[in-house]
Amino acid sequence: MPNTDPRQILVTSALPYANGAIHLGHLLEYIQTDIWVRFQKSRGHECHYVCADDAHGTAIMLRAEQEGISPEALIDRVSQDHQADFARFGVGFDNYHSTHSEENRYFSELIYTRLRDKGHIATRDIEQMYDPQKGLFLADRFIKGTCPKCHTADQYGDNCEACGATYTPAELIDPVSAISGATPEVRSSTHYFFKLPDFADFMHEWIHDGHVQPQIRNKLQEWFDSGFNEWDISRDAPYFGFEIPDAPGKYFYVWLDAPIGYLASFKNLCERQGLDFDAYWRRDSSAEVYHFIGKDIVYFHALFWPAMLHGAEFRTPTAVNCHGFVTVNGAKMSKSRGTFIKAATFAEHLNPEYLRYYFAAKLTPGVDDLDLNLEDFAQRVNSDLVGKVVNIASRCAGFIRKLGNGQLATQCVEPALLQRFIDAGEEIAAHYETREFGRAMRRIMELADDANTYIAEAEPWVVAKQEGREQDVLDICTVGIQLFHQLMVYLAPVVPSMAQDAQRFLQLDSLDWQSRTHGLEGHTIAKFKPLMTRVETDRIDAMIESSKEDLVEEQKLKDSAKGPLANNPIADEISFDDFAGVDLRIARIAKAEYVEGADKLLKLTLDLGGETRNVFAGIRKAYAPEALEGHLTVMVANLAPRKMRFGVSEGMVLAAGDDEGIYLLEPHSGAKPGQRVS
Ligand code: MSP
Ligand code: ZN
Repeated sequence: MPNTDPRQILVTSALPYANGAIHLGHLLEYIQTDIWVRFQKSRGHECHYVCADDAHGTAIMLRAEQEGISPEALIDRVSQDHQADFARFGVGFDNYHSTHSEENRYFSELIYTRLRDKGHIATRDIEQMYDPQKGLFLADRFIKGTCPKCHTADQYGDNCEACGATYTPAELIDPVSAISGATPEVRSSTHYFFKLPDFADFMHEWIHDGHVQPQIRNKLQEWFDSGFNEWDISRDAPYFGFEIPDAPGKYFYVWLDAPIGYLASFKNLCERQGLDFDAYWRRDSSAEVYHFIGKDIVYFHALFWPAMLHGAEFRTPTAVNCHGFVTVNGAKMSKSRGTFIKAATFAEHLNPEYLRYYFAAKLTPGVDDLDLNLEDFAQRVNSDLVGKVVNIASRCAGFIRKLGNGQLATQCVEPALLQRFIDAGEEIAAHYETREFGRAMRRIMELADDANTYIAEAEPWVVAKQEGREQDVLDICTVGIQLFHQLMVYLAPVVPSMAQDAQRFLQLDSLDWQSRTHGLEGHTIAKFKPLMTRVETDRIDAMIESSKEDLVEEQKLKDSAKGPLANNPIADEISFDDFAGVDLRIARIAKAEYVEGADKLLKLTLDLGGETRNVFAGIRKAYAPEALEGHLTVMVANLAPRKMRFGVSEGMVLAAGDDEGIYLLEPHSGAKPGQRVS
C-alpha cells in the first residue's frame, strides 16, 4: 500500500559548539536523530534534517585568540572537521550551516525586533565582574578564586569543586580573571532582557501539552514552581556574535541566536532546493518540527525557544526530544582513562556502524544515560549483526550462485513465513516512530533468529549432497535471501552503509519500507561479499590508547599556548631588560607547613641569606613539608606581594609541572641562599 499521506517533517539536532571536536557523547544525539530521519524518509515522508555549527560566544573568541587566528578562520576549520566526522558516521544532514551566517543575522534581528516592538524586551543596568587588563566582562566560569566556604584555592566563579558550595563570583576570596590573571573589578553596564514572565501562561500550557517527555515536563514544572526571571540576552563588546540592531556595542548572547540557527539552516536549504520555508514556520503550519537535544540544554529549547517563537509570530516545535548522556564502562567519559573518545579516533579504529547499531540497540525514548560498555559492545555487535544477520546471507548466497547462477527460485516455498516477516514491519515501524529503537532492534533480531532457525532446520548443505535435489536447495536458499532482504529493510536506518552494500548484493533499486512487499522470486542477485566483519577487541584497546595520546597532544597545545604560568598568555618575545628586571634568587626552604583549609597550598618560609620571605605555593599534592625543609630552590624575589586569605605571599618559587606532577627547581650544589640567578 503506497503512502498516500506523506507528512512534512523538519528535524534538527543541537548545534555543536565550533571550538571542539565531535566525540562519542555528541554522536549519541546525531545518530539517534539520523536514524529517525532515515526511517521517516524510508516511509516515504518529506523529511528534512538540518544542523549547523554554533559559532558565537566568548569561548570561541578566546580560543581563536589563543591560537592566534581570527574567529572566522577557527569556525571554518572546525566546521570542516565536524562535517568530516558526521560523514564518517553516516549522519546525513540535508544541510549543515553556521550560526555566523547572513540568514541567521536576518532571523535574529527579525525575532528580536518583533519582540521589542511588542514590548517584550527590557533594559537595565547590571553589575558584573570586569577584567581591566583584557577589557572584558567576565562570565562566572572565567573567574577563579578561593572558595568562601571551605577556602580551597583556584575554584571557579559559581561553585566549588571541593565542597560543592554555590555562590556568586563577588563572594570569592581573592578573585582573579582566569583569562589574564588580573584582579577583576565590578563594573556596571546596560543589558537587554527578554521578558520571559510575559509568556508564563503560554510556556506553562506548552510544557503540559505533550511537546516534551514526562520526565522533562516534571523538571520544567519545578522551574516554574521556583519562580523565574527575565532572561539576559545581551553581552558587551568585545564579543564574537551579532550586534543588536538598536544598541551599538551590545551583542546578542550566543544562546539567543543559537536556536535561531535552526531557522537559518533551513532557510538556506529552502533557497537552494526551492522549498517553501513559510509552509514549515508560519503559525498555522501543518508541518511537523522536531528538535533532538541532550538533557543539559532543555530550558533553552523547551521554554525560552518556544516563547521566542511564539512572541515573534512563528509556529512552535511539535516536540523537543531529549536524550540522556553517554557514559563509557559505567563512568563519565574520562580523558585520563582514554574513554573520552573522539569521533575521528573511533573511526580510525572501528567501523562507525558498530556504534550506530549499539546505540540503537540501547536507545529508548527516555532521558536516562546510556552506557557504552566496551565488552558488551563487541559482544552485541558480533552476535547480532555479524552472527545473526550477515550469516543468513552468507549461508545462502553460495548455493544461489552455484545452483541458480545467481537467480533465485521463481516461487517462495514458505509464503507464510515470509508474510510474517513483512507483517512485522508495521510493529517495527511503530517502534521507530516512537524512538523505541531498542525494541525495534530486539524485534528485528528475533526475526533474524527465526530466519536462522529455518535455515538450520532445512539444512541446505545436507540436502545439497543428495542427488537430484538442487531445486530444493535453491528453494530453501531463496527463502533465506528473501528473509535477509526483509531484515535489511528494517535495519537500513541504523546501518546505512551496510544496507547500501546489501542493496548492491541484492541488486535492488531501493530498500525503503515499501520495497519489502516486492517478492524477489526469479530475481538475480550479485556475488556475495562479506557485509560486516567482527569487532576485534585489540582494535578497541588501540582506540583507548590513542584517546590517551589525544589527551597528551591537547595538553601540549594548551601548555604552549598558555605558558607555565597557568592561565596567563605568554609573550612572543620580551626584551633583555624585561628579563633582567626579574629578581631571581636562590632560596633555602627553612620551613614548610600545611595551610589549614587549603588542599593545594604549602606555606614556605624562605631564607634569602639573611632575609626571610613567606610564600604560599600550590605544591601540596607533590611534596610533604618535611621533604622540602633544607632544600635550595629558585624564587622570584621582586614579585608584588599578594594578599591571600591565609596571609600575604611575598614572591614565588619556580617549578615545572603539568597534570602528572609538580617538580620544584633546585640548583646544583654549591649555590648559596640569596645569590642572584641570571
Ligand atoms: N551549542 C549548544 C547547543 C545549541 S542548540 C541551539 C551545545 N553544544 S554542545 O556541542 O555542547 O552539545 C551538542 C549536543 O550534544 C547537545 O545536545 C548535548 O546535550 C549533546 N552532548 C554533548 N555531550 C554529550 C554526552 N556526553 N552524551 C550525550 N549527549 C551529549 O550544547
Ligand atoms: Zn569550597
